[in-house]
Amino acid sequence: MICFSIFFVTHNENNRYIIETLELNGSAEEGDALFKINCVGCHGITARGLVGPDLHSITQRLNDKEIIKQVTGGLTPPMPSFEIDPVNMSNILKYLHSLE
Ligand code: HEC
Repeated sequence: MICFSIFFVTHNENNRYIIETLELNGSAEEGDALFKINCVGCHGITARGLVGPDLHSITQRLNDKEIIKQVTGGLTPPMPSFEIDPVNMSNILKYLHSLE
């Protein structure tokens, strides 16, 4: 049973978290499901942008570490900081890499 919940709580951008996330090989399908639950309200159902920017080709502009910081850091309001475990963060990265 996979848990798709992401909690809006604290910062989670320490190096161990980043290293652990980058060592995993996530699933784009699960990342897609997570994205639909947590991100589409602002980035649009196909990630083409709404309140938040279009995320297609984001992985060409930002490296994985920068994307992790964007998602977990809460540095650019109104985008919240997500407390997300490394497996699910890795899934979201894989999904973002699957966008052309
Ligand atoms: C409440 C609205 C909101 C939600 C929910 C949200 N975002 Fe964002 N996101 C934004 C906004 C607004 C920006 C632009 C911030 C800025 O740089 O000014 C942004 C920026 C980003 C960026 C950087 C884009 C760039 O061009 O630099 C990424 C990557 C991103 N979001 C991923 C996600 C992911 C993944 C989720 C779900 C886990 C998510 N966002 C949820 C509003 C949101």
